[in-house]
Amino acid sequence: MKELWKARQALVEHALEEELAKTDVLDAQLRASMTYSLMAGGKRLRPILLMAAADAVGEDGTRFLPAACALEMIHTYSLIHDDLPAMDNDDYRRGKLTNHKVYGDGIAILAGDALLTLAFSVILRQQDVSSDALLRVVEEVSCAAGAEGMVGGQVLDIRAENRTISMEELRRIHMGKTGALFRAALRSGAILAGATEEQLTALTSYADHFGLAFQITDDILDVVGSAEDLGKPIGSDEKNHKSTYVTLTSLAEAQALARNAADEATAVLDVFGAQASFLRDLAAYIVNRKQ
Ligand code: IPE
Ligand code: IPE
Ligand code: MG
Ligand code: MG
Ligand code: MG
Repeated sequence: MKELWKARQALVEHALEEELAKTDVLDAQLRASMTYSLMAGGKRLRPILLMAAADAVGEDGTRFLPAACALEMIHTYSLIHDDLPAMDNDDYRRGKLTNHKVYGDGIAILAGDALLTLAFSVILRQQDVSSDALLRVVEEVSCAAGAEGMVGGQVLDIRAENRTISMEELRRIHMGKTGALFRAALRSGAILAGATEEQLTALTSYADHFGLAFQITDDILDVVGSAEDLGKPIGSDEKNHKSTYVTLTSLAEAQALARNAADEATAVLDVFGAQASFLRDLAAYIVNRKQ
């Protein structure tokens, strides 16, 4: 699994560079700021999941690199904005100073905006797929990124600061701010690969369990992780008075909930054969990660 991940990561790095190079950015500092965060490393999980969903359906996931890159652009924009002083106010991301620390708040906000909008041009650079599939993917991605998904979840997250919320509310926040982009990744890969309804349903369910397992683990790592491994500060949630799975339960219970969610993600893949083994392994890995 690690080898395939590394190989695909390298493809994503290269494709992201190419997509940026094709884009006529009006200002050199804006280009530098966009490149700074986009090319700062990162696990590239969302593009890798998009490709893995296509693999699971029996296609070659690497055919869909442009759509995969688009998701990474949206994810990177969400990180730039998440770190701003008006949001989590964090100084490090992907092992480097945050975008606003280097370029200032104004350029950082606009670099985020530019990555978000560029993502949709990049999806439309996707070759050899039907326009019907492409339209469905644009709908998936726009809904997942916006008020119904990531942005909506980020707003719920801000509004939950400084108060104790229910587990149900926390789940809704996590499914929005983090789960929605994972869902879009898996569903887009499935749609581009021509998945059946049954396959699409299974991959959607995988995404939801995976997203929850992933964000619970992110909450855990914010308490017990290492800033060096993570490339971002720990203790950000406590500093911002956030309710997390760790504060609402305990470290041990949060770990158990993350493992359960990962097990559920794996279980729904039973409709697939060996082609889904990467997704199975990834779900197990994600709850034991250090980064
Ligand atoms: C961090 O996402 C933000 C969350 C949704 C928790 P990742 O942990 O995937 O960050 P990168 O892309 O590897 O930097
Ligand atoms: C933010 O969640 C998820 C995003 C949409 C960026 P967090 O605020 O917990 O993410 P980190 O811990 O800063 O990466
Ligand atoms: Mg946040
Ligand atoms: Mg944050
Ligand atoms: Mg976090």
